[in-house]
Amino acid sequence: MLTRRQSIKALTLGPLALAAMPHSLAQAKLNPLPIPPLDQGQLTDRSRAFDLTLRRGNRRFLPETETETLGINGDYLGPTLRFRRLEDVALTVHNHCGEDSTLHWHGFHLPAAEDGGPHQTVADGASWTARYPIVQFPGTYWYHSHMLHSSGAQVYRGLAGLIIIEDEQAESGLPQQYGVDDIPLIVQDRRFNEDGSFDYMSRYEDRVMGMQGDTILVNGATRTSFQATTQLVRFRILNASNARTFNFAFANEREFRQVACDGGLLERPVSLTRLVLAPAERAEIVVDVSDGREALLQSRGFPATFSQFPGAMSRMMRSLNTQDFDILTIRPAAQLRPSPALSERFDSIYRLPEAAATNTRPMLLSMGAGMRSGGDAGPGTGTRMGTGGGYGGGNYYINGRRMSMDFINERITLNTTEIWELSNNSPMMHPFHVHNGQFQLLDRNGQPPPANEMGWKDTVRVESGELVRIIMRFTDYVDPANPYMYHCHILEHEDRGMMGQFVLV
Ligand code: C2O
Ligand code: CU
Ligand code: CU
Repeated sequence: MLTRRQSIKALTLGPLALAAMPHSLAQAKLNPLPIPPLDQGQLTDRSRAFDLTLRRGNRRFLPETETETLGINGDYLGPTLRFRRLEDVALTVHNHCGEDSTLHWHGFHLPAAEDGGPHQTVADGASWTARYPIVQFPGTYWYHSHMLHSSGAQVYRGLAGLIIIEDEQAESGLPQQYGVDDIPLIVQDRRFNEDGSFDYMSRYEDRVMGMQGDTILVNGATRTSFQATTQLVRFRILNASNARTFNFAFANEREFRQVACDGGLLERPVSLTRLVLAPAERAEIVVDVSDGREALLQSRGFPATFSQFPGAMSRMMRSLNTQDFDILTIRPAAQLRPSPALSERFDSIYRLPEAAATNTRPMLLSMGAGMRSGGDAGPGTGTRMGTGGGYGGGNYYINGRRMSMDFINERITLNTTEIWELSNNSPMMHPFHVHNGQFQLLDRNGQPPPANEMGWKDTVRVESGELVRIIMRFTDYVDPANPYMYHCHILEHEDRGMMGQFVLV
């Protein structure tokens, strides 16, 4: 089968070229989906210990060239760490990547000093150990660089990996064999230079919209295919892109079932034909391939929206996330092993009652107003004042402030429940992420959230002009000295100020 891009190419070459193209050409070019090695750590009497070494590497993403990368215990990305609920972990990070970095445990409820955020910088050549108990629900989490001002560049080059919290009992009725019928999909978009090096932030748009690429990597490989050997396959999808939002769908509108969102299982599987994931969001889906037919997972471009902002901004916004991509071809083997029937119900989820909240905090996401260098045509084309200014210069705010390491934006009382009102007066969506655990959505513009957002979440899309209310309980770890972060998970926005800090007092 031809991809959309190839069909377009073939069409522009004319009907003869299309007819001449051998049917197997596209198939021959697919790469087997790499499965990140599973690291279960070393179980000592006190904890499950992991060793993670950040280092430089090389990877042949494209057939003709090599790319300089960063990796964790490898050339690009890191192993999948498997934690067990109610165990303690000890994660030692050795930094040999030639620059200061951090590793943050995204989605975890833990003491602020163990969080791996910008305040836990590991200098080049140094080591650092994070210790915390795993108290939350089984699910799909991740780890990545959270270095102030360079999270974007470091994650782009490869400093990220998946974390699975397992609990066999809670997950009964779900495929659980890692690499066989329980498959991680770390989806990223990248752009390459002619010489094979990563192209990062070379265009004006990159600073405004965040870094968007034209090449899809899944688990660090292009054009991937996965051979299914079981009737049901569980995919743990992580959008580990810096800035791109995916709109996943199967060719031929094949249905699939979402069983988990960011912070663990939903109450019941949700049948879908479309799944939107912004950067840092996760979803676990179960795909039934018992019909033996090939299933092509794609991302469908969003329709271009008109936005009423000054010229260059509207133009950029109309191109944002409008591209189609092939993500993964799933090929069922001739003989498929039977899978246990998918559970129709998982544990019920306690809904945090709105009435329990004792405080409401507004969080306004905005892209700056002010002077910018560069008119509508881009940088170096004059200056202008007013709204629409400042985009190119990279002014991103929460409640009118940019992130500052020595300013604590919010103080939250331990053992309280809060409602945060997330709003967005900028022209584009921002995925809002809160450290130190999981929250629930109360509503989107006053409407109840869709079924697949009714679980625990740590990252939520806030569309332009939208008001999203979330509710979160703050427990266990008082520490007036060490802050947790909240931020936009478009890494170029985070790096340029769309981040704040809170402490638990
Ligand atoms: Cu995934 Cu503050 O990060
Ligand atoms: Cu995080
Ligand atoms: Cu943003």
